[in-house]
Amino acid sequence: MTQVVETSRSVVVVVTIPPMQLTEIDHIAIAVNDLEAAIAYYGEAFGAEVHHREVVESDGVDEALIKVADSYIQLTAATRPDSPIAKYLEKRGEGLHHVGYRVDDCAAALAQMVEAGATPIDQSPRPGSRGTTVAFVHPKGSFGTLIELVQV
Ligand code: CO
Repeated sequence: MTQVVETSRSVVVVVTIPPMQLTEIDHIAIAVNDLEAAIAYYGEAFGAEVHHREVVESDGVDEALIKVADSYIQLTAATRPDSPIAKYLEKRGEGLHHVGYRVDDCAAALAQMVEAGATPIDQSPRPGSRGTTVAFVHPKGSFGTLIELVQV
């Protein structure tokens, strides 16, 4: 969207407002050491049931999704000791790992983030779990939060 602001008879300022890319919080990912224990805890604490289970071997993650309205809590464990999630658990322990922002167009959202100064981890969108298209953006440059753009 372009907004023309007339400040005086001779000076015209053109302000470009980029389109809103976010449509939903897709998921909140929590890194856990023991996926079965975390699933059992969410069951006992919230009565929550697993909506989707998936191993993403390329990322070295075993994940369980709990549906909350149109979003998910993604309990995430490592499948191998050299996976990024395993290294994260070793360094920082269990806890909030990343936030998945749902977008209509992953490539467009990534380009807009980079334009705004973000540091991409994925240079272009790639396949994620649930048949989604995703791209990760580094916490550095995004106020300390690992962001995953998720196109459903
Ligand atoms: Co994720």
